Amino acid sequence: MELIYTGKTKDVYRQPDGSYLLRFKDDVTGTDGVFDPGANTVGLQIEGAGRAGLRLTQFFYEKINQAGIPTHFISANIENNEMTVHPARVFGHGVEVILRYRAVGSFRRRYGAYCSEGQPLDGYVEVTLKDDDRHDPLITESALEMLGIMTRREYAQLEDLTRRIGEIVRDELARKQLELYDIKFEFGRLGNDGRIGLIDEISGGNMRAYRHGSAVAPLELEQIMLS
Ligand SMILES: Nc1ncnc2c1ncn2[C@@H]1O[C@H](COP(=O)(O)OP(=O)(O)O)[C@@H](O)[C@H]1O
Ligand SMILES: [Mg+2]
Repeated sequence: MELIYTGKTKDVYRQPDGSYLLRFKDDVTGTDGVFDPGANTVGLQIEGAGRAGLRLTQFFYEKINQAGIPTHFISANIENNEMTVHPARVFGHGVEVILRYRAVGSFRRRYGAYCSEGQPLDGYVEVTLKDDDRHDPLITESALEMLGIMTRREYAQLEDLTRRIGEIVRDELARKQLELYDIKFEFGRLGNDGRIGLIDEISGGNMRAYRHGSAVAPLELEQIMLS
């Protein structure tokens, strides 16, 4: 097994059969010990965070695969904190797609003069570049095309997949009396035909969930969802 990438929350290995193995760590994004799904630094470590994140990821990926949406997911080994996936070719150096049902986090910081905290946003989609040094800048569809990162057709597919996957996650949370405020996804091109599929993880660290108007921490979210 060859280590090909050391990320903030996972290590990525290439296996002899060509598949990738993601090992989930107990590192959580945030600043100064406070969780923030939008942060691009590791802010804290929580024992058991890696395994809980993997279990929730497996839970959602099985639902998403069942819905016929392409994903990289092959299997999960909970005991070892590992997930085996199909390798994907990412857009540029990687993009993140954010789906917003309510105004919180960076949306609120950017557009605070025009919206109130928690205001409904009706499934608004935006894309950022994965670029820690430049603080993951927001990018428009036109710039993505102009810079050769993705085509307009791919952008439309990305938006459509994001809304469909978001609905699956939102509905599952609602069954547990949780409300999904926003969520971050990653996508890549899979297989020889380059069809777009969901990659990376879907854990408590990628979303903001609320219960009775207050934010639910990642580990607690995972406990609620998996019990
Ligand atoms: N199927 C896949 N193929 C290629 N890269 C992937 C796949 N799934 C996830 N990745 C990438 O692997 C890395 C996972 O580690 P992570 O700690 O999340 O990294 P980061 O600090 O870049 O967010 C991410 O960069 C993610 O884009
Ligand atoms: Mg990541």
